[in-house]
Amino acid sequence: MFPAWVFFIMLAALTDLVRGLGVNWGQMSSHPLPPTNVVKMLKVNGIMKVKLFDADPKTMKALAGSGLDVMVGIPNEKLDKLSHDYELAQKWVKENVTEYLYKGGVSISSVAVGNEPFLSSYNGSYVKTLFPSVKNIQRALDEAGVGGKIKCVVPFNADVYESPSNKPSDGRFRKNIMKEMMEILHFLRAKKAPFVVNIYPFLSLYQSSGFPQEFAFFDNGSPIRDKGAQYSNVFDANYDTLLWALKKVGFANLDIVIGEVGWPTDGNGYCNNRLAKKFYDGLLKKLASKEGTPLRKGYLEVYLFGLFDEDQKSIAPGDFERHWGIFRYDGKPKFPMDLAGQKSGHQMLKGVEGVKYLERQWCVLNSDVRNLSNAQVELNYACSMADCTSLGKQRSCDLELHDRISYAFNEFYQNRDQDVRACDFSGMGTKVTQDPSTGDCIFPVQVALSAGERRHGLSYALSVFAPLFFIMSFFTLL
Ligand SMILES: *[C@@H]1O[C@H](CO)[C@@H](O)[C@H](O)[C@H]1NC(C)=O
Ligand SMILES: *[C@@H]1O[C@H](CO)[C@@H](O)[C@H](O)[C@H]1NC(C)=O
Ligand SMILES: *[C@@H]1O[C@H](CO)[C@@H](O)[C@H](O)[C@H]1NC(C)=O
Repeated sequence: MFPAWVFFIMLAALTDLVRGLGVNWGQMSSHPLPPTNVVKMLKVNGIMKVKLFDADPKTMKALAGSGLDVMVGIPNEKLDKLSHDYELAQKWVKENVTEYLYKGGVSISSVAVGNEPFLSSYNGSYVKTLFPSVKNIQRALDEAGVGGKIKCVVPFNADVYESPSNKPSDGRFRKNIMKEMMEILHFLRAKKAPFVVNIYPFLSLYQSSGFPQEFAFFDNGSPIRDKGAQYSNVFDANYDTLLWALKKVGFANLDIVIGEVGWPTDGNGYCNNRLAKKFYDGLLKKLASKEGTPLRKGYLEVYLFGLFDEDQKSIAPGDFERHWGIFRYDGKPKFPMDLAGQKSGHQMLKGVEGVKYLERQWCVLNSDVRNLSNAQVELNYACSMADCTSLGKQRSCDLELHDRISYAFNEFYQNRDQDVRACDFSGMGTKVTQDPSTGDCIFPVQVALSAGERRHGLSYALSVFAPLFFIMSFFTLL
């Protein structure tokens, strides 16, 4: 037996490992969980840092008094106005920062101005307006007397830099944003603020054919050598590519924070619980070891992406977009995860408590229906209105046509909070109380919305008559 004090020292050390870990809390969900329950769950897990994409009042109120360190966010769409309207910047800071700084309020540590604003696929839309917006927000923070404590940062996608040879030492910032990037870098250094970057090994694997799969994980795949350093995973290589890019323009010592890192679990052949678990196990172990990367040893500050699956995210980048959660839509962990990064499982991720569900019932295709071609029309409609990104080859729901139609019916029915009218489908839908889930394919039961969030009947009535507006691009996948 250990004496009790040994146990306490061990416990303190473990909590310390988790302490640095942050999570992204996105809100693009049709049925968000009650924010107070979510905040409780974060504290139970010892996760004391969250990054938001806006400053939603309900979320902010739930965070008040929690002691969590909060990064609030300004969406890209606001940058145009903020860049030339200082009064709006003042108003934003007043409504979304100083409003919450009362005693027992929210511990806001930083404001993220924009979200990946220099992403190549935005075609430069925010390149000119970002820095003027940063300056306006900083000035408003300074004027409110909190500019010393609350820092402006910009979460960039890792595509702001590149390496033509794929070697970290050839890293450099993209030419078409160089001027604006230099302005930001000078600003960050002057304010002692970190460079925030989102690094996605999954996207490296997904986007480049021939990318060696093992290099996306942390199991010492065949290493590449670069100027005396050895890289056995793309996370380290990517991070050090940034360090080289910074060094070349005179900012070698800037702090770096990983604003997003994670692995999705559905919607693509590389996305499942097994590979996500493998990725997180490797990542969390690495973070706990404080080994850093070949070029920068030590502790890495990281925000995982993300908390929950979000069924309203755009799937333009791919169907996996709605499956980044370490929790399912209902706050249950998808797979065991040891936040302390120890093999023996010291700090296992716990789910959200007190989640209320609708009744245990599902909507499926009536088994009497023989001619499935009419039912398929209904499937297309259901999937255009609800989330069918788990359906398809190499996904969690790789089903025969009849079950595929049932899955789509149920998604629509649950999305509409089990409204009886949402299980009609020209008389082909039927309600069942026996769970139709099979294997990995879960037919969900919706969570109950809290009173303030119940939707109105109108949008439903409109959509019932809208089966003409299919989103056809979906079905090539099914
Ligand atoms: C403050 O943030 C909220 C939530 O993101 C947003 O709806 C509101 O418009 C913001 N205030 C201003 C003045 O932009
Ligand atoms: C960027 O340009 C491409 C190609 O011209 C276009 O397809 C895409 O819609 C544009 N995206 C934005 C956000 O403007
Ligand atoms: C199934 O229904 C479609 C559309 O109503 C019809 O064109 C087709 O002939 C039917 N198939 C059979 C086998 O009855």
